[in-house]
Amino acid sequence: MRIDVVSIFPTIFDALEVSLLGKARQSGLLDVHVHDLRAFTHDRHRTVDDTPYGGGAGMVMKPEPWGEALDAVTRDAVARPVIVFPSPAGERFTQATARELSVAPHLVFGCGRYEGIDERVFDYAAELGDVRLLSLGDYVLNGGEVAVMAMVEAIGRLIPGVVGNPESLVEESHEDGLLEYPSFTKPALWREREVPPVLLSGNHGAVAAWRREQQLVRTRERRPDLLPD
Ligand code: ADE
Repeated sequence: MRIDVVSIFPTIFDALEVSLLGKARQSGLLDVHVHDLRAFTHDRHRTVDDTPYGGGAGMVMKPEPWGEALDAVTRDAVARPVIVFPSPAGERFTQATARELSVAPHLVFGCGRYEGIDERVFDYAAELGDVRLLSLGDYVLNGGEVAVMAMVEAIGRLIPGVVGNPESLVEESHEDGLLEYPSFTKPALWREREVPPVLLSGNHGAVAAWRREQQLVRTRERRPDLLPD
């Protein structure tokens, strides 16, 4: 999968060099290119924002650098890319979204800052690819960078070969619509706390039933919104 990220803080994405995703980049499973939006400006101050038409607080990102950046990252595209703009005003990014995007050959992420990006940029981007405005949740970050880091990790780990044991992807929170069951390892007794005896029983059916029950209990307690009425 090819990933292009456009941001005014490209060094934030240095963190993608480490851990699982770093290995995936080294092995060629993930081909990540990070671009500085200011490289697509032409004035001495490398200006990327301006005051909003109609007045109001804050600054809006100018369309021209975005237009040039999107042209550049989609110019040699082998397939029609999906162009993601993280935004608190977007649709919710979920595990299902991550699964859907994990099969796309080319993802472009545009990180907004300030009060947002000139709205015409989204309209123009739709000529170059399939545009998705995606929100991590109902809170506001200072910009799209941290959201893109989260999305790239959630999507990247679903690409076959990125996570060593694919079975570990199956029994995770949100994969079957429920939260994950609790996990324990040795020792069986630690600071007067026991591992649930069923897990030591060797009875696979009983273990599976207990885990399912724990998933339901947890989901009911912590995330009742995930359960059907
Ligand atoms: N940018 C700012 N806040 C955001 C959020 N909650 N999700 C995605 N992108 C954002």
